[in-house]
Amino acid sequence: MRKLIIAIDGPAAAGKSSAAKNLAKRLGYLYLDSGALYRAIAWKLLQEGINPESQAEVEAAAQSIEIELRLKGEQTEIWVQQVEATPSLRQPEVTRTSSIISTYPGVRKKLLSIQRSIGSGGGVVMEGRDIGTVVFPEADVKFYLDATTPVRGLRRHKEMELKGIPSDLEKTTREIEERDLKDRQRHVAPLKKSEDAIVIDSTPLNLEEVILCMLQEVEKKLAAKQGGTGHIKKLK
Ligand code: DC
Repeated sequence: MRKLIIAIDGPAAAGKSSAAKNLAKRLGYLYLDSGALYRAIAWKLLQEGINPESQAEVEAAAQSIEIELRLKGEQTEIWVQQVEATPSLRQPEVTRTSSIISTYPGVRKKLLSIQRSIGSGGGVVMEGRDIGTVVFPEADVKFYLDATTPVRGLRRHKEMELKGIPSDLEKTTREIEERDLKDRQRHVAPLKKSEDAIVIDSTPLNLEEVILCMLQEVEKKLAAKQGGTGHIKKLK
């Protein structure tokens, strides 16, 4: 049986990456953080001193940026033009720039084909903003993971502190809100819940509870495809 395509969308810091990574691991699927691709382009543009507000320049430059994913055990490294960019992708300047350049159709078009080529064979958990709506509208299971803004702000703040990146809770929360607004209001592939997505509000849930919720839905899908049940025990 063909392995599933699982899409996880939602606003910033809703826990998509942790959930997607864990779910992929338990299913033995590939995990792809599509935001890292936008961040990789942003990182390279900053390196080259290109003004992110200049749409024409960004779109032209983005076409020749080569992005490569290298699997190292359970980690996926992102390489840009033969240089590993992964350690720099969470820097605040890269975050801000990725939010701006992801509104440009030329950038999205380039990344759309990369995402589809990685995931179209199935066996993938892909997370982002438009996976269930644009990248894989035919995904087998779609989740929309959400949480209240203060909870998401706090989670991102703690995550940055753990990574040794200085963070101020109020500022981090405000930046999340601003990015969400940009993501929701952009004309191309805005952040929105796909009609057939399963909504999970992770506000009162820990990671394990989110994963269990997701595994149950995946199991239902597998059971429906196989015409049987009993898979969930193996997945846990
Ligand atoms: O998920 P993230 O915070 O790493 O994403 C970085 C930026 O990329 C975010 O501001 C929105 C954008 N993005 C997008 O537009 N579409 C996606 N599928 C993933 C990310």
